[in-house]
Amino acid sequence: RKEQEASLPNLVQRLEDTVSKEHFHLLKLIGKEADRFGVSAYLVGGFVRDLLLERPNEDLDVVIEGDGIKFANVLAASHGGSIKQHDTFGTATWTTPDDMKIDIVTCRTEYYAETAALPIVRSSNIHEDLTRRDFTINAMAMSISEHSFGKLLDEYQGIEDLKAKKIRILHPISFIEDPTRIFRAVRFAVRFGYSIEKETARLAQSAMSHLFSLSQQRLRQELTLIHKEATDLEAYYLLDTLNVWKTLFQKELPASSWQYAERVFSQSGHTVFHMLTALASPLSNWREMIQLYIMTAKERVFIEQLNELKQAPIEEVKSIGELHRYLYAVHDETLRFYLLDPTQEFHTHLDDYFKKRQEMSLYLSGDDLIKLDFKPGPHFRDYLFELEIKQLNGEISSKEEATRWVLEEKQKAEANHL
Ligand code: CTP
Repeated sequence: RKEQEASLPNLVQRLEDTVSKEHFHLLKLIGKEADRFGVSAYLVGGFVRDLLLERPNEDLDVVIEGDGIKFANVLAASHGGSIKQHDTFGTATWTTPDDMKIDIVTCRTEYYAETAALPIVRSSNIHEDLTRRDFTINAMAMSISEHSFGKLLDEYQGIEDLKAKKIRILHPISFIEDPTRIFRAVRFAVRFGYSIEKETARLAQSAMSHLFSLSQQRLRQELTLIHKEATDLEAYYLLDTLNVWKTLFQKELPASSWQYAERVFSQSGHTVFHMLTALASPLSNWREMIQLYIMTAKERVFIEQLNELKQAPIEEVKSIGELHRYLYAVHDETLRFYLLDPTQEFHTHLDDYFKKRQEMSLYLSGDDLIKLDFKPGPHFRDYLFELEIKQLNGEISSKEEATRWVLEEKQKAEANHL
């Protein structure tokens, strides 16, 4: 293997500027103990990447080449504090006497033993640990061992890719081994404003069928992480160029999906689920497709209401009040979303209804009815609902008119009863 070790003179300074004084001293102490104990200690992955990019990162793990758990115990034995061990993962959390917590991780590699079906985790060296990582920019390590404190290990030209602003995998089957990396590639590209290197993008495309090895929940989680970092639709387009939508929704998305998504994205409060729904909405099997990504009861109601709206005879209903009979139970969120649908033509009618419904405050309440000598009961709702309809139609426009109307209705009801 071609190895390249580069030393960046200002890395120690950057570390000192980035972490607290206490943490910096703790890292120095760990490095000194590592030398004494005969192991090597490193900072690795996202932390090193962010150190080079001068971006904040709180994820301070120390990776040990050697037995991390034994080493953590040595630290606690010499300097006090306590250790919490996670033997299966070869990790330990050291809580120092000053109550700082630091994770000590053993270099590891996963591999499939020939006869065993389950992956075996075995400890390894830093080179193997870096080889199993996702992208070149995430596969760098910085030594904190005392004898080489601040020395950078960059075996996959991570620095070069940081400079070239490229997301590049380390080996051709990376996406097949871990399809979540397809989403991670997009997330990092969007976060840093980088592009996905050409061959990496091609390999992501050819790994599309492996997306189905991920659970729906996992897919949704990865998409949510991307959504959280997206400031525009670029992430969604990027996923499209990798064929993610075509794969997940089983069809090429039409232009109206993008028009819809643009409109939804420009609204405040949009969620990843809204975005998925907008993209899928123009497809004939949209409901079947989107159902797979529903995670909450609220989302289930949203989809059911949207489906009802799409089927409601909105054009045929002439008055706004009558529209209310169909749509009173539909949540504002669903209506607002539906009104953005570029494939529907209705909209002045419905738009008007939605506006009026939002602005409306009813002239009478249940308490008012009691004061007017109504006996409390389920019919209260019916009176108030009819009032809503009349208010929306402009047939009633003051508290007096409303009062007059309910009293008339009461009289009629009493007369019918006699
Ligand atoms: N990693 C990987 N493959 C994955 C997930 C993680 O190789 N599917 C490696 C990468 O080296 C990554 C490190 O594990 O840098 C830590 O993962 P994580 O905390 O998820 O990512 P970060 O790179 O730290 O990114 P973030 O800033 O989003 O935390």
